[in-house]
Amino acid sequence: MQPIYPQTPALQPARVVNSAWLEHGPFAFWIVEALRPRLIVELGTHNGYSFGCFCEQMQRSKIPGRAIAVDTWRGDEHAGAYSETVYTKLAAYVAANYASFAELKRMYFSEALASVADGTVDLLHVDGRHFYDDVVEDFTSWIPKLSDRAVVLFHDTQVRERDFGVYRYWAELEAKYPTFEFHHGHGLGVLGYGSNIPAAVAPLLALPKNSDAAAATRRAFAEAGAAIARNRKRPPLWERTMGKLQKLVGRV
Ligand SMILES: C[S@@+](CC[C@H](N)C(=O)[O-])C[C@H]1O[C@@H](n2cnc3c(N)ncnc32)[C@H](O)[C@@H]1O
Repeated sequence: MQPIYPQTPALQPARVVNSAWLEHGPFAFWIVEALRPRLIVELGTHNGYSFGCFCEQMQRSKIPGRAIAVDTWRGDEHAGAYSETVYTKLAAYVAANYASFAELKRMYFSEALASVADGTVDLLHVDGRHFYDDVVEDFTSWIPKLSDRAVVLFHDTQVRERDFGVYRYWAELEAKYPTFEFHHGHGLGVLGYGSNIPAAVAPLLALPKNSDAAAATRRAFAEAGAAIARNRKRPPLWERTMGKLQKLVGRV
């Protein structure tokens, strides 16, 4: 078994915004290139960091697919409440850069189900509210939408605070499906759902969990992810102050 490595040279995402997902940018690029998804659905987008990484690689690899982000853009118990500018900024960015294939659906995850055909989603990212029941509901309600080559990502598999329940559900899923888990960046679970997982993705899911190759893979993606956080340009003081004010206003 050979380790899997991020693309080299490791790329700094075009849009780096506040996100607990920051260090998974290199994996977002890798999975989009390896899977070449016809349809990506993200459940939980907030500032749009992970969605931006998926879209960036769709464009770079000239993949003729679509990407849908679903969120109320109102926040939740775990993400907190936030201001309207989170949505308007992201909508403007997506319109300016990815309008031909990306779409923001401002609604509840359950409401978006009706507009996505069964068996069409190649890449599903589950990153909404993180209580155990939420994650179970978000994944199981979207199962009918998954294609036979679908990969599902679960964020926060390593978080054991504030009643996060992803780690508990992840333990159940690991027993049932081919999976791989990154431990950095709060944990990211990668699950192969379809029976026709593309050859470029299958070796990741086949890595024995405690093997040297799995450890080397985790190390390589963690290092590339840490570089994103290190290289991140600190926004100017006025922008940080505005951000804090907007967050406060959003909470009222
Ligand atoms: C953890 S954040 C997403 C983080 C994002 N993926 C990133 O790259 O930083 C979770 C988001 O899910 C949204 N959310 C939670 N439950 C939802 C639901 N049932 N329907 C729609 N949006 C939901 C919240 O509004 C919040 O913006």
